[in-house]
Amino acid sequence: MKPRVIQIGRLQASLESALAEEFDTHALWRESDATAFLAREGGAFTAMATSARSGADAKLMDALPQLRVISNFGVGYETIDVEAARNRGIAVANTPDVLTDCVADLAIGLMIDVARGLSAADRFVRRGAWTKGQFPLATRVSAKRLGILGLGRIGNAIAKRAQGFDMQIRYHNRRPVAGTTYEHVPSLVELARWADFLVVAAAGGPATRNLVSSEVIDALGKDGFLVNIARGSVVDEPALVQALSEKQIAGAALDVFVDEPNVPAALMQLDNVVLLPHIASGTHETRNAMGNLVLENLRAFFSTGRVLTPVA
Ligand code: 8YV
Repeated sequence: MKPRVIQIGRLQASLESALAEEFDTHALWRESDATAFLAREGGAFTAMATSARSGADAKLMDALPQLRVISNFGVGYETIDVEAARNRGIAVANTPDVLTDCVADLAIGLMIDVARGLSAADRFVRRGAWTKGQFPLATRVSAKRLGILGLGRIGNAIAKRAQGFDMQIRYHNRRPVAGTTYEHVPSLVELARWADFLVVAAAGGPATRNLVSSEVIDALGKDGFLVNIARGSVVDEPALVQALSEKQIAGAALDVFVDEPNVPAALMQLDNVVLLPHIASGTHETRNAMGNLVLENLRAFFSTGRVLTPVA
């Protein structure tokens, strides 16, 4: 008998069909009354496929008394109650490594876009403004100072790329990272004060909420740029919107927001802000690799009792 897998929210179509081929899947998001469905059939599922968008809280796990494994599509898992899972002995897997390069590529792309004004210049050409005048001068990226908040896998991949641009690199983590040559700055405010570009690459969740506070944004200063490819929650979004509106910083490039897919209306009016719809891992290659890893984690669990890439 195929293991029964409950799928909490929509996943990419190729993963949904691959899951359905190999497992006995059920889409909870199709149920008009999810609570009633879980009360009736929750006991039948041993596995779950989810993503950070849908998550898995303790209440959902309680409704699945036979649940043994959660396979998450994505590296971030802040919406999964990992402690509740641990208490129940439920294995939790995510999809690290396979998305690192694409996310880091996008961070560099955003940095260049906001500093050189690529998106703004594209809008300038499209609205016919080039025939009437020159696009304003922008800001150089090469050899500038890059501060990285969160020197994990993705932060390191961003740093490696930035070295190719001769950038000076420092980082802030709660604790210094062993074995790295980049300088650790114990205070995020100090890092922001030093940096020309502050790139957010820290995990989401309560431990990092609003870490990029109004004080940090202030320290970045009127010539500093903020890039966020991590989670909207890491930045005090209202403070950022205010700083951008009042030109207290030079610009921001954001792939993530507090309340996706809703973007603060004030940002739409600003030309020095690049807004992307959470696409850092969104390439065919990477999303396929993430989907495969979701499957492989379930396969591994049902054949060996262990997932391949357990969350920390
Ligand atoms: C999303 C991400 O998972 O990996 C992450 O943490 O934020 C993305 O890769 C992806 O958009 C699916 O929700």
